[in-house]
Amino acid sequence: MRGPSLAPAEEQDPMAAERGPRLRPGVLDIAPYVPGTSALPGARPVIKLSSNETPFGPSPHAIEAYLAAAKQLSRYPDGSARPLREAIAKLYGLDPGRLVCGAGSDELLNLLAGAYLGPGDEAIYSAHGFLVYKIAILARGATPIVAPETELTTNVDAILACASPRTRVVFIANPNNPTGTYLPFDEVKRLRESLPSDVLLVLDAAYAEYVRRNDYESGIELVAATTNTVMTRTFSKIYGLASLRIGWAYCPTEIADALNRIRGPFNVSGPAIAAGVAAIEDQAWVQKGADHNEVWRRRVAEALSELGLGVTPSVANFLLLHFSIGRSAPEANKFLHERRIILRRVEEYGLPHALRMTIGTEGENRAVIDALSSFIGRNGSSSR
Ligand SMILES: Cc1ncc(COP(=O)(O)O)c(C=O)c1O
Repeated sequence: MRGPSLAPAEEQDPMAAERGPRLRPGVLDIAPYVPGTSALPGARPVIKLSSNETPFGPSPHAIEAYLAAAKQLSRYPDGSARPLREAIAKLYGLDPGRLVCGAGSDELLNLLAGAYLGPGDEAIYSAHGFLVYKIAILARGATPIVAPETELTTNVDAILACASPRTRVVFIANPNNPTGTYLPFDEVKRLRESLPSDVLLVLDAAYAEYVRRNDYESGIELVAATTNTVMTRTFSKIYGLASLRIGWAYCPTEIADALNRIRGPFNVSGPAIAAGVAAIEDQAWVQKGADHNEVWRRRVAEALSELGLGVTPSVANFLLLHFSIGRSAPEANKFLHERRIILRRVEEYGLPHALRMTIGTEGENRAVIDALSSFIGRNGSSSR
């Protein structure tokens, strides 16, 4: 016999059976994340520069480790990704107990939202910030607050002006995707110092390995020095392991503890742990990727600026290219597709006149420069 407190919902509300499960408010406000185009019709190869992946792929050691892990597929992996946390901790001199690994940094961003946001709460991100923040906030029934940017760069004062007693989390991508711009460490510190101490600051440093600026700091120092800041990182970009889905977060102890309570018990697979360890141990591979990027980001930016395109100064492995309304980004995109080149449209980031280009191999970069040169030659000069 069912007790009164366990009465089926239909007994209390006769319409409940017909309505079906009730969605949490906010879920239907989410526009599903649309990844960059990855294929074009037809069998001919494409140049895919739409998802900020490395043109070099992963370290050969990571591939070897991944293949070797195939022999253990019947076994559950280490539930806390301990070997990977230890390898990361060793590289950066961190406490492995304060690291949490996830299925990409996307999972960690969502876990942070899950631990710290709920209905009635607000979370802030900047106008052209990474789209996953909005999705993670809305999925928890919380309210996204968008801070304006200055020259496509995160503006600390604008974020502070958006803060209210309901603010629980601030998400910053540093460098930001899709703009490629960054906040110097002084500004990140000023943001942390000016935000109330009960507001969690999430520093998403997915592209940190590419940045070569003396005034940049990925977040490690701030996480070490505060109790309310988290830094997230990924193996999807310079490490070339996007398909394996590996991210990590460096957290204050209490926050690591909270994430460990709510994450899936085996959220990083065995092959991902093995490949991640080998990848992190091959820093020469990382260096090679960063060196190549440094040279080619500058060359591509110069060549495209000379063509008359607006190019936002970037510290990451991609460039935001601005087209005039007359020679619009969709037209350029179509022109590039006809030449089997895929860049990323960034309309949903509020940038309908821009395309984002990942820095590729020398050949890929030259192909984009040649194609855009023909596009502009055909359509006349094009600028911001
Ligand atoms: C700023 C930023 N953060 C996080 C991610 C997510 O990376 P992943 O989930 O592959 O680790 C991306 C990927 O594009 C990104 O651009």
